[in-house]
Amino acid sequence: MDLVKRGRRLRRSPGIRKLVRETVLNVEDLIYPIFVMEGTGVKKEMTSLQGQYYYSLDTLEEEIRELESLGINSIILFGLPDEKDEAGSEAYSENGIVQRAIRKIKEISPELVVITDVCLCQYTSHGHCGVLHNHYIDNDKSAELIAKTALSHAKAGADIVAPSDMMDGRIKAIRTLLDKEGYEDIAIMSYSVKYASAFYGPFRDVAHSAPSFGDRKTYQMDSGNALEALREAEQDIEEGADFLMVKPAMAYQDVIYRLKENFPYPLAAYNVSGEYCMIKAAASQNLIDEKAVVMEMLLGLKRSGADIIITYFAKDAARYLRGE
Ligand code: PBG
Repeated sequence: MDLVKRGRRLRRSPGIRKLVRETVLNVEDLIYPIFVMEGTGVKKEMTSLQGQYYYSLDTLEEEIRELESLGINSIILFGLPDEKDEAGSEAYSENGIVQRAIRKIKEISPELVVITDVCLCQYTSHGHCGVLHNHYIDNDKSAELIAKTALSHAKAGADIVAPSDMMDGRIKAIRTLLDKEGYEDIAIMSYSVKYASAFYGPFRDVAHSAPSFGDRKTYQMDSGNALEALREAEQDIEEGADFLMVKPAMAYQDVIYRLKENFPYPLAAYNVSGEYCMIKAAASQNLIDEKAVVMEMLLGLKRSGADIIITYFAKDAARYLRGE
């Protein structure tokens, strides 16, 4: 055959394939989610997120040392408070579970980048991400409490705060309050484009954060929309976001791509609980090769434009990257 161009020349050997590989995954790209709860001696596997654990403050050290040994240098923290109320007050209490966990983790490992999920849903009795006014989420009051929560995390020593509520103006509210209190160096990783998604199902089980009535569709985005994603990201940047995020990841890779094309900012993708469980479930039935699928998925998210990936597979991926 008279062919000048042959794509297979560049696929001939592992060495050549490595040489021309456009995207690589690094352990530094990964953020591992950690769930902390009250109690002592707790390291309890989550029923809905097999292979993931709840930790009490006294069992965190072993986990942090493991992350260090794997080369993972960033975590995102979630808290499960013992008490919930209408206003989610444990979210911004100085001695809340997350605030204590941050202080503890910073003692154990000052270099670890501690990112905190900033939201009210685990802390409100009704499970919504804001406070209610006649059964409707009061945007501005909620944004104020979200900012208060972010400030309490910064005071405890968090490096980056990550609001996941999707109230309008929350980035501005957080930036203003952090600056006013002397935390102008604390970065904001905004969950800028967070869809109202069924892929969060397992997380809501483990975080006890399912809304007791209604859904999150009046504040989280509609899954048919991508132009709206650009508007959300633009507004967050204007309000002072340092990082953008798209969540969930796999069903929204076009959105990841569009954000990366439009905004020269570090971009995170949240590979959420439902995505994790689908792979775990298929692998447990020997339908897919878990390791190969996980690495292909994570690489695909990077190729789409994500610089950073929040994933429950972070530790596994770190091991795979070392060839274990
Ligand atoms: C809190 C929050 C949620 C997730 C991250 N932060 C749940 C939600 O919005 O309902 C989901 C993460 C996952 O599914 O892994 N607002």
